[in-house]
Amino acid sequence: MKIAIINGPNLNLLGTREPEVYGSATFEQYFQQLQQQYPQVSFTYFQSNIEGELVTALQQAGTAADGIILNPAAYTHTSVAIGDAIAAIQPPVVEVHISNVHARESFRQVNYVSAKAVGTITGLGLRGYQLAVEYLLGRV
Ligand code: DQA
Repeated sequence: MKIAIINGPNLNLLGTREPEVYGSATFEQYFQQLQQQYPQVSFTYFQSNIEGELVTALQQAGTAADGIILNPAAYTHTSVAIGDAIAAIQPPVVEVHISNVHARESFRQVNYVSAKAVGTITGLGLRGYQLAVEYLLGRV
């Protein structure tokens, strides 16, 4: 079972970025925990601040992974290209947001990703990634 985790802009700053919203753990720490927790899963992790790199990563994971966990971060609210990339590939894509985007600013209510994803987990902190793994393990 291969799961690709893809994170968008500013998620490289988790740990120090607005900790009251996103928590104080780095993603690297959390990713290590996930790998230990699910030794049966072969994980890859990619983060980029650049929209086109995220599109390319989705296309590559589209042929290399059984399931994809995607946090497009701010591009969720702006990127037709990321929505199109999800629609263009076969593996299920679970959209994850650390914060509850529904409880935040109105510009975060615009979303180009959710309609193309199999489902969305939002507001459950980093735990959302683990819940997405559980879903993919049950489904794939
Ligand atoms: C986010 C929510 C987005 O609105 C925001 O732009 C992010 C992170 C989240 O994980 O809560 O960068 O995707």
